[in-house]
Amino acid sequence: MAELAPWPATSLLREASAGDEAVALIWDDGERAGFPLIWLRDHCPCLECRHPQTRERLTVPLEEATLRPEASLEAGHLRLAWADGHVSQFAAGWLYQRRPEAPAQSPLPARRVWRDAFTPVRVRHADFFTPAGESAWLEALLRDGLVLLEGGPLVDEEVSRIAECIGPQRPTNFGARFDVRSKPNPNNAAYTAIGLALHTDLPNWRQPPDIQLLYCLENAAEGGESLFADGFQVAEALREQAPEDFRLLSEIAIDFRFQDETQDIATRAPVIECDANGRVVEIRFNNWIRDALRLPAEQMAPWYRAYRHFWTLLHSPRYQLDFALAPGEMVAFDNRRVLHGRRAFDPSTGARHLQGTYLDRDMLESRLRVLARQA
Ligand code: OGA
Ligand code: ZN
Ligand code: ZN
Repeated sequence: MAELAPWPATSLLREASAGDEAVALIWDDGERAGFPLIWLRDHCPCLECRHPQTRERLTVPLEEATLRPEASLEAGHLRLAWADGHVSQFAAGWLYQRRPEAPAQSPLPARRVWRDAFTPVRVRHADFFTPAGESAWLEALLRDGLVLLEGGPLVDEEVSRIAECIGPQRPTNFGARFDVRSKPNPNNAAYTAIGLALHTDLPNWRQPPDIQLLYCLENAAEGGESLFADGFQVAEALREQAPEDFRLLSEIAIDFRFQDETQDIATRAPVIECDANGRVVEIRFNNWIRDALRLPAEQMAPWYRAYRHFWTLLHSPRYQLDFALAPGEMVAFDNRRVLHGRRAFDPSTGARHLQGTYLDRDMLESRLRVLARQA
């Protein structure tokens, strides 16, 4: 069927009848569905209609009239003989999964906003390299927007090795893999020892990195604890407490910009982005790289009020997760949803070294679908 995901091999057809518009099917369990003729012809899995190696569709559903085929059952599966001589054979279970009224099936978890006392899922480093452990890690990350890995080795580039089990590392102007420690001539607040207020990385990019991995190699300095908040949870709290402030942050686009000797990367977008149904889908929040505020003068004061309100809520202890990463631990989070930060540290008291990289969400979803089809 040109399909790698499994379908229920046991559900067979009891009846098939072709009309001028559709084929009506009844399965063994009594379930019924009607498939339009154009749909069936478009989904023909034969070697002329689907490339045998790539599994990609080779035909275009251009034919206006797909004339009524002869429908018959072969060992419980559907056979259609079309008027032009073409024959299509469909596995009954494959059609069963695709009944127009069937509930959508997906191995991907729904997003779940943090509630008070959110405790992140922890996965052992060794378990990550098993299908069950990797699935648990992926599910928690896609659902909660944050997951921890623990008990990993203290070796350079372990973060890249983990990332590449999932997909290619997403490069940015800071490289595909970056070191977080205090450096001479820093081009980024993270490369100093100062505290970092909650932020999302790279909101100055049209498409900020989806997922961030931070792997702790050393954390012996005083301070340097990690801070997180679920931007979706706090945005909902803002919507409830101050709908006008929420409206300003979600409707007014502002400029974000990073500049150094060789780069000037800028985009204009709202702090809170909603989809067409008003659901929050992205947070862009990074006070260092907010560019000059370019708005009609009368919008400026209300926008600052809304921004301060959101800032205050985000940093209130009620919404914050606060813990020190131990060497060998890695935090992974949804950079377009969960904000991160850290307390200041004192580099004279010991070393602090994290290695980080980014991944595309598509690669996480892909891994979870592949693992689900192997399960
Ligand atoms: C970063 C960052 C956090 C930390 O590198 O983007 O926010 O704990 N680092 O140092
Ligand atoms: Zn065909
Ligand atoms: Zn950051």
